[in-house]
Amino acid sequence: MIRTPLITVMTQAVRKAGRALIRDFGEVEQLQVSRKGPADFVSAADRKAEDILFTELSRARPNYSFNMEERGKVEGTDPENEWVVDPLDGTTNFLHGIPMFAISVGLVRNGMPYAGAIYNPIADELFIAERGQGAYLNDRRLRVAARQKLADCVVCCGLPHMGRGDHAQFNRELRVVQRQVAGLRRTGSAALDLAWVAAGRFDAFWERGLAPWDIAAGLTVVREAGGFSSDMSGQEKMLKTGDVLSANEVIHRDLLRLLKTAGPAEA
Ligand code: IPD
Ligand code: CA
Ligand code: CA
Repeated sequence: MIRTPLITVMTQAVRKAGRALIRDFGEVEQLQVSRKGPADFVSAADRKAEDILFTELSRARPNYSFNMEERGKVEGTDPENEWVVDPLDGTTNFLHGIPMFAISVGLVRNGMPYAGAIYNPIADELFIAERGQGAYLNDRRLRVAARQKLADCVVCCGLPHMGRGDHAQFNRELRVVQRQVAGLRRTGSAALDLAWVAAGRFDAFWERGLAPWDIAAGLTVVREAGGFSSDMSGQEKMLKTGDVLSANEVIHRDLLRLLKTAGPAEA
């Protein structure tokens, strides 16, 4: 376990928000059969979880800034430390009663991912990492998978849907990757995708067009588990571009090369 004051603060905040989400998820399961569906209820649950995170984190670190999915940016007197918060990553899953979602809290220090907490409240799995301290799943130290051949790898990806992303480009990427790997997955929570790369469950993950709150926490978790992350041009500008590819060093290199063969986005 990491027992730094920072990790203690993050852990308490995500666990508290997780308890609220679990209660609301129980309601959502009931609401599936109603004609109107649970959409409004889910937006309220999302905002409630974010309120809890905002209250807890600002009480513990009153000067830090925030970048939150729902409320947006809140400037603190310390702009060098920014909490990047997704109170519910995997909204579509949550809305449909699929128990695969997480709370993601990253700390970005001087523009670089510094610490992360990703909490799956249904599985009670807490992924945490702080620079130089390693990455953990609950009490267990994490290490990315060691597989060296794409043919042995289970690779997770995003999947652009109605109104999102460049479908043609994704389809080209999918085509080149699916021929070479042992399996492909799509979970619906980018934060958990990164956490699962860190845990060695997925050998790699790539997705384009993500927001900082989807990945800020996960980037530190992957890094501290010995993994490599970049955007699709191989640079470490993931928070700016929103594109991310994570894996161990060898698979990261091979997959980056392979994805480049799919060609650029259409103008
Ligand atoms: C989404 C999830 C999903 C990813 C989407 C994100 P949300 O976040 O991370 O896996 O494919 O691009 O927007 O909306 O559930 O917080
Ligand atoms: Ca998200
Ligand atoms: Ca969200």
